[in-house]
Amino acid sequence: MNNNTPLRIEPKEMRRLADIVIAEIIDHQVNQKYKPLSKPSNKLEEVLQVNPFKEEGKSFEGLLNLITREIYKETSLPSNPRFLGYIPGPSNFISNLADLIISGFNSFSGSQLVGKGPAKVERQTINWLLKSMGLPETGGGLFLSGGSMANMSALETARRNFHSEDWRNFKIYGASQTHASVKKGLRVLGFEADQYVPIDHNEEFSIDLNKLKIAIEKDKEKGYIPFVIVGNAGTTNTGAIDDIQSLREIADSHKMWLHIDGAYGAASVLTEEGKKLLKGVETVDSITLDPHKWWFQPYEAGCLLVKNKEHLLNAFHIEAEYLKETYDDAEQLNYYNQGIQLTRNFKALKLWLSLQFFGVAEFRRAIQLGMDLAKRIEENLMNQGDWTIVTPARLAIINFRPKLSNSSEQEEDQLTRAMIGRFLEDGKYIITSTELLNRPVVRLCIINPELTRKEIDQLSLYIYNVREDLMKSMGLNK
Ligand SMILES: Cc1ncc(COP(=O)(O)O)c(C=O)c1O
Repeated sequence: MNNNTPLRIEPKEMRRLADIVIAEIIDHQVNQKYKPLSKPSNKLEEVLQVNPFKEEGKSFEGLLNLITREIYKETSLPSNPRFLGYIPGPSNFISNLADLIISGFNSFSGSQLVGKGPAKVERQTINWLLKSMGLPETGGGLFLSGGSMANMSALETARRNFHSEDWRNFKIYGASQTHASVKKGLRVLGFEADQYVPIDHNEEFSIDLNKLKIAIEKDKEKGYIPFVIVGNAGTTNTGAIDDIQSLREIADSHKMWLHIDGAYGAASVLTEEGKKLLKGVETVDSITLDPHKWWFQPYEAGCLLVKNKEHLLNAFHIEAEYLKETYDDAEQLNYYNQGIQLTRNFKALKLWLSLQFFGVAEFRRAIQLGMDLAKRIEENLMNQGDWTIVTPARLAIINFRPKLSNSSEQEEDQLTRAMIGRFLEDGKYIITSTELLNRPVVRLCIINPELTRKEIDQLSLYIYNVREDLMKSMGLNK
């Protein structure tokens, strides 16, 4: 029989292994900008096949090599500054270290008895976020895995605090551009698909307020109960922001809950520009933020804020005989009573540590830079000519397509799709598409603070060259 303690590593060896890992991470972060982005290949399947789990362990160096050289080779890491698709996750090194601390101390942030320190840090960070949004001190919130969980938790909070319990007759309204996680959340909570009413957007891709009012009135006439308006502070497609002040007025006039999905755009309130764009955000009942997007945190870190902390407790408070010792919670630090999870890690530490270390001004500068660089690329495209800017740089998203005066819309769309195909094939940047008004567009989201003006100019030139090259091979004229 082996008398060694199972799963133990001696301190000297711990240090050696940690040093190798940290060296790999630093090398990755410093050099990722210069390495080709991943291209799909099926090689990893074979590599994993020849690496089955065995009774006896393997060399750490070999396994680390497998992770960094093979597994991550098939991964387009969203922290790479050249990742411009979807919503990137820029992350930052201090929060990477926080993640190491969180995991190294195996922090439990579910109850005051086991995790009072982490809970107090979470509360301080939530209070700062509430203040940044202009929400009252009576507000509350918690860290979650991401925007999807925050949207779903908000909808459940709304349901448990609403003036009616007849939720089978509730209707939920949101712009047609609202993120799919809202619909998914409603489905998980047991709502039927037709209880969600998508409202057309206006020319700016924000919710059409008149159509919203009409839809609510019509539903009321039919006996339905208007329940929640889900507004957007930065849609995924275009960065569009709804008129939050008007949404508040409409919600109030029908005794509705106002939730804002700010997973992407809420971070912009740190800047003067964003504050103006998100006017009214201080009046919402709940808002989703996603620190793993434009607050530069590594995955996972989402967040829900509510105007009234009691609303979370009403929705999620639970008792169990094995939790009795945690009940004495005058400071309301039992986060298991404010959300779905009991066991939860100390996600707040990432944002807390990075804000403390860099200072708020540095975050503000990083967010403003994204907005400025998106405007710069718009200017570059305008100077090149022969582009249709479908939605101008808003927050840090821009959508455009090639303009061919002598060709049909179908040919423009073919060229747009061919460009996206070429971008992914080249592997210089991750650039993805979306569809607006039923037509494909090239979409860029520029929130990585590692990007420079010079690199934005190089990107503009690259996009131009791809278009010119494809037009030649497709026999198209401007
Ligand atoms: C506006 C918006 N809401 C919600 C989500 C979902 O967030 P997550 O992917 O963190 O669950 C996203 C993700 O991109 C988003 O852009």
